[in-house]
Amino acid sequence: MNPFSRRSFLKGLGTSAIATAARGLRAADVPAPPPEAHTLGPGETEITLHINGQARSLRVEPRVTLLDALRNRLEYTAAKEVCDRGTCGACTVSVDGRTMYACMVLAVDAVGKNITTTEGLVREGKQDVVQRAFVENDALMCGFCTPGFIMSTRALLDKNPHPTRAQIVKACSGNLCRCGAQPHILAAIEKAANGEVSA
Ligand code: FES
Ligand code: FES
Repeated sequence: MNPFSRRSFLKGLGTSAIATAARGLRAADVPAPPPEAHTLGPGETEITLHINGQARSLRVEPRVTLLDALRNRLEYTAAKEVCDRGTCGACTVSVDGRTMYACMVLAVDAVGKNITTTEGLVREGKQDVVQRAFVENDALMCGFCTPGFIMSTRALLDKNPHPTRAQIVKACSGNLCRCGAQPHILAAIEKAANGEVSA
């Protein structure tokens, strides 16, 4: 029998085509890992966070949130843990100039970024104009929402020093006050924007 029959030729062709396809699939489906990728955890790992201009080293498991690291592993207690699920804004901090819920950011993901908490707004012992406006306008009751509102307000005024009432409401839409302080909060923000705060 002819060893190179049409049937055996097609069978061989099919086998090599499948093998080639399989090789192609493997090459396409398994992306090369980024050169710097590495696995963390499950145990603790040493990280350094840059908070309010200071480098702070600590050991955390990769599951630890930035909020937990700030409040419970370091001494930054201004950001509050209220809902711990990204709905209330009490934990708002600034990360590289953007307001974020610290309860929704892993500490390990904040490495190499500039983190600012409400404590960091105090310069040479003097509170930021936004902080003073909140105090002077009695813009708090329990105070749990206050640091988050202050961080959102600071971010707003950095971008837009003279916001309208509507822009203020929108900028603070991620912050909830469960007490009755909302009218005073809005008034305080307007006073801060208008410079109507004691020196
Ligand atoms: S504690 Fe983070 S959003 Fe409520
Ligand atoms: S002052 Fe209590 S939640 Fe706002």
